[in-house]
Amino acid sequence: MAFLAESLLRIKPSATIAVTDMARALKAAGRDVIGLGVGEPDFDTPENIRQAGIRAIESGKASKYTAVDGIPELKAAIARKFKRENGLDYKPTQITVGAGGKQVLFNALMATLNPGDEVIIPAPYWVSYPDIVLLAGAIPVAVETRLEHGFKMKPQALEQAITKSTKWLIFNSPSNPTGAAYTRDEIKAITDVLMRHPQVWVLADDMYEHLVYDDFEFYSPAQVEPGLYERTLTLNGVSKAYCMTGWRIGYAGGPEHLIKAMATLQSQSTTNPNAAAQWASVEALDGPQDFIAEHNKVFKERRDLCVAMLNQTKGLKCPKPEGAFYVYPSCHGAMGRSAPSGKKLASDQDFVTELLGAEGVAVVEGTAFGLGPAFRISYAVATPQLEEACRRIQRFCGNLS
Ligand SMILES: Cc1ncc(COP(=O)(O)O)c(C=O)c1O
Repeated sequence: MAFLAESLLRIKPSATIAVTDMARALKAAGRDVIGLGVGEPDFDTPENIRQAGIRAIESGKASKYTAVDGIPELKAAIARKFKRENGLDYKPTQITVGAGGKQVLFNALMATLNPGDEVIIPAPYWVSYPDIVLLAGAIPVAVETRLEHGFKMKPQALEQAITKSTKWLIFNSPSNPTGAAYTRDEIKAITDVLMRHPQVWVLADDMYEHLVYDDFEFYSPAQVEPGLYERTLTLNGVSKAYCMTGWRIGYAGGPEHLIKAMATLQSQSTTNPNAAAQWASVEALDGPQDFIAEHNKVFKERRDLCVAMLNQTKGLKCPKPEGAFYVYPSCHGAMGRSAPSGKKLASDQDFVTELLGAEGVAVVEGTAFGLGPAFRISYAVATPQLEEACRRIQRFCGNLS
């Protein structure tokens, strides 16, 4: 009998982490590598937030276990955030806090999925969604979107994918990996479909809420369609907008019975999220927010730079996304061509491997996110480096024969 659990056979290590590791290894071997694989801001956590964490440690507030799914002060700050920014009313008993958005998502899916349940995931998707669904023994149902539609799911495609077994729709806007964000009207068209199917819950992953450009207005599904409030889990966190990926704090608001089940699961796995990080997150949510606009100005410039340079590149096509810090160019036009090494490019996996080998630029292949041939660029790196990386991509594509 095999020693490892059968459930592990269903999943694979995160492709984005694999690419980052590969780039790190090449760098350690002395190669000049530009990593565009990792999904985190290149800015530091703002000073006031760092100080709040330090104060929590020095005052002894971080020494002990806290309430399993979050200190009351953080839950209160989250409730204020939901009201202020999303017009959503969640009581503290409807709020849960975990070690990053990923743990909160994991808790929600583990607490609700049974074998045979289906979860609809628009593709391309964040790599962890299908694997957590598989780990829970349920079935991920990918709904492919199209580049021509800006990688946004059409309501008809959702309607067609829904069955009696559908338990969740995972709705991520702005999206990792495409940066696509849905307008209020586009969300309404999706929620109208869901109103006809009362068995389907919405997991609204709002992790990139604050990272939107060109006056784009962010909306969350339960805000657009209050009729879905009782079957929506609104997921968010401090990782991306507050540059706190290392602190590991994510949270969600939803119906009390679901929140309670998620806390039970967490009580038997990790217990409370890091106490100092919880106090720092109170400061993040309640403190000054002006640095977000400053960061967004830089992100927007980088997005525009990337989109312009990639669209001038032979064989690539890159839509201009509304948010997050990703672009998702198609490399369809490069398929079948030969790289400088002589290797014929048969897939986006070949494309990214040859690009890394020839030019030292690390990106993630689109098939890892469920839709290729394409690749994801994270533009959360210093602008001169990003520009140099785009120049190298242009050279690589120009040299294909
Ligand atoms: C779409 C999306 N949701 C959730 C998360 C989880 O964020 P974290 O666990 O770092 O808070 C990420 C992180 O990459 C993400 O891209």
